[in-house]
Amino acid sequence: MSTNILEVSGLKTYYKTRLKEKVFAVDGVDFELEEGKTLGIAGESGCGKSTLALSLMGFYFPPLHYGSGSIRIHGKDIMKLNKEQLRSQVSGREIAYIPQAAMNALNPTLRIIRFIEDIMKEHRPELSKKQVWDLAAERFQTLNLPEKVLKSYPNELSGGMKQRTVIAISTILNPKVLIADEPTSALDVTSQKAVIKLMKELLDKKFIRSLVFITHELPLLYHVTDDIMVMYAGEIVERGTAEQMIFDPVHPYTKKLMGSILVPEEGMKGQKLAAIPGAPPNLKQVPPGCRFAERCSYARDECRVGKIPVQTSGGRQYRCHFDTDTLKEWYAHEQP
Ligand SMILES: Nc1ncnc2c1ncn2[C@@H]1O[C@H](COP(=O)(O)OP(=O)(O)O)[C@@H](O)[C@H]1O
Ligand SMILES: [Mg+2]
Repeated sequence: MSTNILEVSGLKTYYKTRLKEKVFAVDGVDFELEEGKTLGIAGESGCGKSTLALSLMGFYFPPLHYGSGSIRIHGKDIMKLNKEQLRSQVSGREIAYIPQAAMNALNPTLRIIRFIEDIMKEHRPELSKKQVWDLAAERFQTLNLPEKVLKSYPNELSGGMKQRTVIAISTILNPKVLIADEPTSALDVTSQKAVIKLMKELLDKKFIRSLVFITHELPLLYHVTDDIMVMYAGEIVERGTAEQMIFDPVHPYTKKLMGSILVPEEGMKGQKLAAIPGAPPNLKQVPPGCRFAERCSYARDECRVGKIPVQTSGGRQYRCHFDTDTLKEWYAHEQP
């Protein structure tokens, strides 16, 4: 029987502005993640991906506030835990989180081993310094990271090596779930591949059981995750298998997100096609109806009113009025 490692239901979280307005960056999110599975979360910048990650971790620090809904990690409702329980029982052990740009936030005055010592002081206080070193060295070796990195200062490492080191440190306690927020952004293609390879090793060696991989580059997820969710303006607009989402997107936003990123051809390596025209709506004033309607070439009047229901088709869910046949018929007539 499968067990869900993560269950999120009706989650709403918001930023409180200086004018005391509530800006819902996560606005009614539902999903679950089965133990042993990997999930990608994609969407343009500003759609609420990082806010969702912070919310899942229970990191509600002003201006971010919890609104409503539930988050269960292995059946445990994290909103029922206090900050201390969250820190000692959940963070790092059950679920590890690598924030966006974490590698640039490492204290430059500390050697890498010090970060691991700090984690062990909290979670494995019985270990001696020597035992911590041996454990760290063994883990680094298993993951094909040079042991000498442990003695280095963060700024002595290349971007790619720094990111892999952050991942190795964050997973040293074998958390059940790793949530990695844009772990490959700002890296060159070779380093991106090394990071993805490392994630796979962590899964293969069962150092982590599940992975949530956040990125603004949808196609990158193809070789990394089983399922993909696309987020737009605080909502999940489509979820399906990586294969479905990348090769057969249903929601017009997913479709556009795929089209906006060029599959590199010879001579055009890494070059991106123009982004999707326009920008996601300002979350202070989300339009009624479909939040993507303003940028959607297929939007009709009925898309601009009410709440758009989530439809299910062939094992995927998507938030759009139209049925899959209609959408595919339209897509078939699009210019390639
Ligand atoms: N510190 C903040 N204060 C107020 N609003 C914020 C803050 N951080 C993010 N937001 C709002 O939340 C939205 C989602 O941001 P974020 O979760 O970082 O998106 P993503 O990770 O998808 O780029 C932003 O568009 C912005 O409106
Ligand atoms: Mg982000």
